[in-house]
Amino acid sequence: MPPVKVLPSLLSADFTDLRGSIGRCLAAGATHLHVDVMDGHFVPNLTLGPFIVAAMRRCAPAAHLDVHLMMTDPLRYVDDFRKAGADAITIHVEAIGPRTMAAAIDRVRATGAQVGLAFNPDTDPRLWFKHFSQVDLVMFMTVYPGFGGQAFIPEVRPFIQQTRSKFPDLAIQVDGGIGRDTAATVVADGANRLVCGSAFFSDSDPAGFLRWAEGLQ
Ligand code: DX5
Ligand code: ZN
Repeated sequence: MPPVKVLPSLLSADFTDLRGSIGRCLAAGATHLHVDVMDGHFVPNLTLGPFIVAAMRRCAPAAHLDVHLMMTDPLRYVDDFRKAGADAITIHVEAIGPRTMAAAIDRVRATGAQVGLAFNPDTDPRLWFKHFSQVDLVMFMTVYPGFGGQAFIPEVRPFIQQTRSKFPDLAIQVDGGIGRDTAATVVADGANRLVCGSAFFSDSDPAGFLRWAEGLQ
């Protein structure tokens, strides 16, 4: 399995002090930052667009920006997010559908960004395994997407385990309810990329948390 990496989710940042929040992530040792884009349609919440991603990029010129598109029509915006500075763009399989998935992956790839596929907690990834060799990462939502600070859904664990046993080298990311209480469990299941929003930003020792989590194997 690839090394464990913690990705602070900027959804939990202080948006009145974005530069300060991002600075604290980097100072804690984060090299990757997770950005949540919500369109008010695919999920019942609205967050931010390319303009803010570009501002995040200016605050962290060297960080890997991992952009999670919770959007009904993600392909309409992938060029804009790439231009704004996205290094990886993750789209939801539920927004694409099986017949157009291969073309959608090609479309994201054509932007030059890494490509990720995200799965809601009730979506069985096995139906999508045939596309996994085409992407750079898969991401399991361990909460219903839309908000930070929700409780981890343990029913997703078999999906992580099944995916890891079939794809030993794939980057498997988890998003939602990950912190000191759940990180070791999902890493044991096979996840190697941990998106942490509220747990990271509320930790009294985020650098210690990051070091501990990235040492799990
Ligand atoms: C939820 C977002 C997550 C969110 C996770 O829809 O996709 O990235 O920031 O937040 P926590 O870690 O607080 O569950
Ligand atoms: Zn996310």
